[in-house]
Amino acid sequence: GAPVKADIGKLEPGQMVVVEWRGKPVYVLHRTPEQLEGLPSLDSQLKDPASEISAQPAYITGEPRSLRPEILVIVGLCTHLGCAPKFRPEVGAADLGGDEWIGGFFCPCHGSKFDLAGRVYSGVPASTNLEVPPYSYESDNVLVIG
Ligand code: FES
Repeated sequence: GAPVKADIGKLEPGQMVVVEWRGKPVYVLHRTPEQLEGLPSLDSQLKDPASEISAQPAYITGEPRSLRPEILVIVGLCTHLGCAPKFRPEVGAADLGGDEWIGGFFCPCHGSKFDLAGRVYSGVPASTNLEVPPYSYESDNVLVIG
């Protein structure tokens, strides 16, 4: 399939858009500085914090799992059985673990939880992080997926 372009120039911090790529939803999230700062503190609660067994391009490294720290690009399909996880950015959501929940993605099908880098929590059915697709930037505002 052909690469897909998305203009992210107007994507405000905290906002997410969904871009279709090869029939899959790709979530593009502009993370706030506070959201990024919280990521390392979660490592001990995650199954694969360094993404050693999860799908992502070799040029993606570190906790943010992105080329630009603030812009997350992930495939919006649960790595358990493929449902679409919901974006649940609110901190401390009581139904998702209260104080420990700093925002992320929640899969309604069987309750898998992922952080704001798409990393899977321990104790849920999914065993790997949400996939990072191949992508690049054509310019400051134009993301190219594929
Ligand atoms: Fe997401 Fe099962 S498909 S938890």
